[in-house]
Amino acid sequence: MPRCCVDRSAVSLVRWDDGHTRRGERLRGDVRADAVLRRAGDHPRAIPAGAEILELGSGAGRVTHELIALGHPVVAVDSDPRMLDRIRGAELVCARIEELDLGRRFPVVLLGSHLVNRPEPGALLDSCRRHAGGVVLIERHPPSWFADPAGVRDVTRPGPGLLAATVDHTIGATTWTEDFVVRDHDLPVLLEEHGLAVERYLTEDERWVLSVPRQRCPGCRRTARRCPA
Ligand SMILES: C[S@@+](CC[C@H](N)C(=O)[O-])C[C@H]1O[C@@H](n2cnc3c(N)ncnc32)[C@H](O)[C@@H]1O
Repeated sequence: MPRCCVDRSAVSLVRWDDGHTRRGERLRGDVRADAVLRRAGDHPRAIPAGAEILELGSGAGRVTHELIALGHPVVAVDSDPRMLDRIRGAELVCARIEELDLGRRFPVVLLGSHLVNRPEPGALLDSCRRHAGGVVLIERHPPSWFADPAGVRDVTRPGPGLLAATVDHTIGATTWTEDFVVRDHDLPVLLEEHGLAVERYLTEDERWVLSVPRQRCPGCRRTARRCPA
């Protein structure tokens, strides 16, 4: 069984999947992805209409289905086949993001669901960079959330920049809990280390970030800022 985003039993994972799918149905009119893409579209480096999107950590397709409805071909990647089973209309790839190498680049790479807030997200970002042929859209917990984390309980700060907490998910009569640890990274610095650069924040709370690949020196392959030449 592939590793999932947090350790959880098969039973709670299936519940989470059910909940997410049901929430996805409820969210269909909420057009969160639509709003984000429209903002990105205002930008000079607009997401071209109909651009193919590589969605990393697609889950059960909550955002995927919105993107497809907007006319984007989507390649949906998730390490859990039970999640991918729920998706219709996308190319499905069951793989760990860190090890993914599709051998091609995409005009849009999407890394949602705060995966970038993992304590060590370097391999995730390397995968974004490897597949980036245009922009990389990232959803994160912004610094303001770390100062005042909403929707979670039992918050502790186990180390510099780290926040551990528990979140309760309730769907109908069923509630289950998830423990997690996230880090408040200095995003511009982190992205720079992985060959990406913040282009602009797409939302006022700086939750959605539009980033672009940094150009690499053709000689040493380092990003322009690190190249000694
Ligand atoms: C919180 S869910 C969110 C799904 C979707 N992005 C959404 O917003 O509805 C995160 C998903 O990422 C997947 N995931 C987490 N870490 C992954 C990894 N390293 N490689 C591939 N998939 C991963 C999990 O299996 C899960 O389906």
